[in-house]
Amino acid sequence: AQISINGQQSKKISNMLTGVFFEDINYAADGGLYGELIQNRDFEYALHDKKERDEKWNATMAWSGDFKIAKENPIHPNNPNYAVILKGNISNSGFDGIALKANEKYDFSVFAKGSKAIVRLKSASGETLAEAVLTPSATWKKINAVLKSSKTVKDAHLEISTSGEIAVDMVSLFPQKTFKNRKNGLRLDLAEAIADMHPKFVRFPGGCVAHGDGLHNIYKWKNTIGPLESRIPMRNIWGYHQSMGLGYFEYFQFCEDLGAEAVPVLAAGVPCQNSSDGGSGQQFGIPMEDMDEYVQDVLDLIEYANGSINTVWGKKRAEAGHPKPFNLKYIGIGNEDLISDVFEERYRMIVKAVQQKYPEIIVIGTVGPFFEGTDYNEGWKIADDLKLPIVDEHYYQTPGWFINNQNFYDGYDRSKSKVYLGEYASRGNKFYNALAEALYLTGVERNGDVVEMASYAPLLAREKHTQWNPDLIYFNGDEVKPTVNYFVQKLYGQNPGNQYIESTTKLSDANPEVNKRIGVSVVKDNASGDLIIKLVNVLPVAVTPSIETRNLPLTETGDYTILTGTPENTTARPATQKLTVKEAFSKELPPYSFAVIRIKTN
Ligand code: AHR
Repeated sequence: AQISINGQQSKKISNMLTGVFFEDINYAADGGLYGELIQNRDFEYALHDKKERDEKWNATMAWSGDFKIAKENPIHPNNPNYAVILKGNISNSGFDGIALKANEKYDFSVFAKGSKAIVRLKSASGETLAEAVLTPSATWKKINAVLKSSKTVKDAHLEISTSGEIAVDMVSLFPQKTFKNRKNGLRLDLAEAIADMHPKFVRFPGGCVAHGDGLHNIYKWKNTIGPLESRIPMRNIWGYHQSMGLGYFEYFQFCEDLGAEAVPVLAAGVPCQNSSDGGSGQQFGIPMEDMDEYVQDVLDLIEYANGSINTVWGKKRAEAGHPKPFNLKYIGIGNEDLISDVFEERYRMIVKAVQQKYPEIIVIGTVGPFFEGTDYNEGWKIADDLKLPIVDEHYYQTPGWFINNQNFYDGYDRSKSKVYLGEYASRGNKFYNALAEALYLTGVERNGDVVEMASYAPLLAREKHTQWNPDLIYFNGDEVKPTVNYFVQKLYGQNPGNQYIESTTKLSDANPEVNKRIGVSVVKDNASGDLIIKLVNVLPVAVTPSIETRNLPLTETGDYTILTGTPENTTARPATQKLTVKEAFSKELPPYSFAVIRIKTN
């Protein structure tokens, strides 16, 4: 193959292309990224959290021992249940056991009243790994203790024992080591895996979680801020419980810690089109008489993120510990909503209100649900009319679809809204899937003048609690298991450019079926001055391209990173070596491989 790269032919592309889609699906938040190790710390799990009736799923879920649930005089009206232990103990098994590390410190806290008690971390065999004495008073008081584990175990539990009577609520245990050492922080290994992707943005809290499956299930950001005991937990559309401990403040802080733009997505005044409203498939929405209040909630979010501390919501942000604005630039309205009259009326109302009050905010609209054969036309018409800067498209397709549709964005009208490819995946975690995605992304980079952002979805999945496959990163209590797809995302995330450099590829075999299995994308990153060549080979044979560059003052050595494996492989990892480059050079691309060549320019 002959690849010719001409430095004089280039166009500006988005420098925001790779980001992450975070949805609280598959236990991504509680039991996942959120560092809390106690499950159902507030005793607010409820039968209605579950889609399939499960009698165990109630206020005692994950707890065992000698206690009863009480409701009189709770610590907060939003947190009505608590536990009363009478001469005995209560034990919490975390999320499938609590994983502890030897000599690491854990912050324990509890709201308690009543008699003296002892808190212990215990191994599955009953060995005490750490303990502290709790001395409550007669009225609710928050008590803190630091517990240092003597051993590394996967399946510890936390036990509180008393010989008197003690009431407890918000029983909490966090590793002291969280991402950026934040209190109420994020699980370090998972957050680091995300940080390693160098995401330019983080979309949250979903997906379908953002709009829920009924009017009472629409995610309300205001329920997720403030003291933890005052947050309003909710049934998660994916059939479990959201404590809201990972709420809007924590999301914004995470984005800031990552150096990524926050992309909150709010419901367009309608719940999910697949909602169970009689199973009719009709779109229904917040009553119009309540829409002013809903629109105000959306505007208040922008004030919460960016307003001065003298504003109502800016003050709340400051009280949470962040007086400086978060500098929110984007807001998403709607997620895969059916383009119905009900939707359109509410969507237009919200978008216009944001455009009017906060013209500097980039509103990302939706162009409808993804079904086989969707053309998004109706959604695009509204986007044109509203002059939306960006719209969100989603598609989950086969690897073959991704291979055959690399030109998807070539014909997009550059004068219209830009695209946020908010959710995509090729339905599998084998290397062939990852390669199809890598190949498709060469086309996305080539169209980086119309595609502004893209995020693989979903991001996280806890083993044994996975509602959706494939995902990007699987995990359990103490292990992170990135997929091969993750390494493709990471290589794109770590090697972005802001200028697309034209190149031509000539293969000796003229067969188009062969040609479309070779992908090339060349970008330049102006900040580092690096030229980045991405090469994808989805053929079962090696290809050795001769790469010729013109009008590019390259230095002599570059980095060559290769990710390769058989189509079925699930364990491939990128490896980097040095590469000597000249104006013309050649390097073998193994069968089924994705290579990134990174060269400094003079
Ligand atoms: O990514 C999983 C789900 O797929 C999202 O919640 C939804 O937006 C899409 O249908």
